Amino acid sequence: MIRSVVRGNGAALPRRIMKNADFEGMVETSDEWIVQRTGIRQRHVAADDETTASLGEAAARAALDSGGLTPADIDLIVLATSTPNNTFPATAVEIQNRLGMRHGFAFDMQAVCSGFVYAVATADLYIRGGLAKRALVIGSETFSRILDWSDRSTCVLFGDGAGAVVLEAQDGTGGIADRGVLAASLRSDGVHKEKLFVDGGPSTTGTVGHLRMEGREVFKHAVGMITDVIEATFAEAGITAEDLDWFVPHQANKRIIDASAKKLGIAEEKVVVTVDLHGNTSAASVPLALSVAVADGRIKKGDLVLLEAMGGGFTWGAVLLRW
Ligand code: ACO
Repeated sequence: MIRSVVRGNGAALPRRIMKNADFEGMVETSDEWIVQRTGIRQRHVAADDETTASLGEAAARAALDSGGLTPADIDLIVLATSTPNNTFPATAVEIQNRLGMRHGFAFDMQAVCSGFVYAVATADLYIRGGLAKRALVIGSETFSRILDWSDRSTCVLFGDGAGAVVLEAQDGTGGIADRGVLAASLRSDGVHKEKLFVDGGPSTTGTVGHLRMEGREVFKHAVGMITDVIEATFAEAGITAEDLDWFVPHQANKRIIDASAKKLGIAEEKVVVTVDLHGNTSAASVPLALSVAVADGRIKKGDLVLLEAMGGGFTWGAVLLRW
């Protein structure tokens, strides 16, 4: 059978780093509160000339380079984002143009923080269905543009950035020893909209709006939803937590990550944590975490890796792959 195998990966971050202490003159908060409640120490914030498209392009080029590929080798781009450059066209198409591609097709995927997990599962289906041979799957966000910078309960949590992988069609046996995407489980439930949403949009206010969140309510649901979808993925693949080499969760809050790993019986040393460096970068968080763990030599070819995310909607999902 055809498997969608990771051929390369990359990341891009805005130049400016904003430390927790930098908020102290803006809103009533402290480095101590932010670190203790979230694990976040710093985040990158985009300048005017850094956009979802430019960061996504840079991450895509890094992923292509790491795989020894050029844009000519790609026939599909799936961009996970909730902060597109324009309402339309899709920012994926803008990235396609920036890469100089006059072939193939590109589209955006909107599942907020779960966007990259949804995009990997979607690109895998296009590849296995024969519609694409090599896909760039990108998560790119500029959440700094939709934050209410006077709301301390949200503005300290998020950051900007982008990450990407190239998925390539390769022959596999159909077994769990194959490299590539092995199993996926996706969920959503719109009843939770009011707990995490943006209070603007083209069809309602005609404005972009700002992120609004009931943090405690999101927290309450997060661990149960994350562990449910991971257990479904384990069952589909016929594995247990002990078989995993690496757990790469969505980077929203260190306490959510720790509680999920503990509930699932995933050893602490197998958990990739980058929320301290990047904050919550929504759809970019999982590929950014992947890029750190690949660059420092933790994730290696043949390792069994579990990706997981949960976000606005609510949406949530998990993907199991062998690197
Ligand atoms: N600095 C200082 N105090 C603050 C800040 C801040 N930045 N923000 C809120 N507080 C105050 C609150 O006003 C509250 O004060 P009060 O008791 O006088 O009312 C107090 O701190 C406690 O607030 P809680 O909301 O109960 O704090 P909690 O421990 O739940 O932490 C947090 C808040 C970090 C938002 C947490 O609920 C959380 O992480 N929730 C998950 C939400 C999340 O990560 N969303 C991201 C997108 S969804 C996803 O990716 C999973």
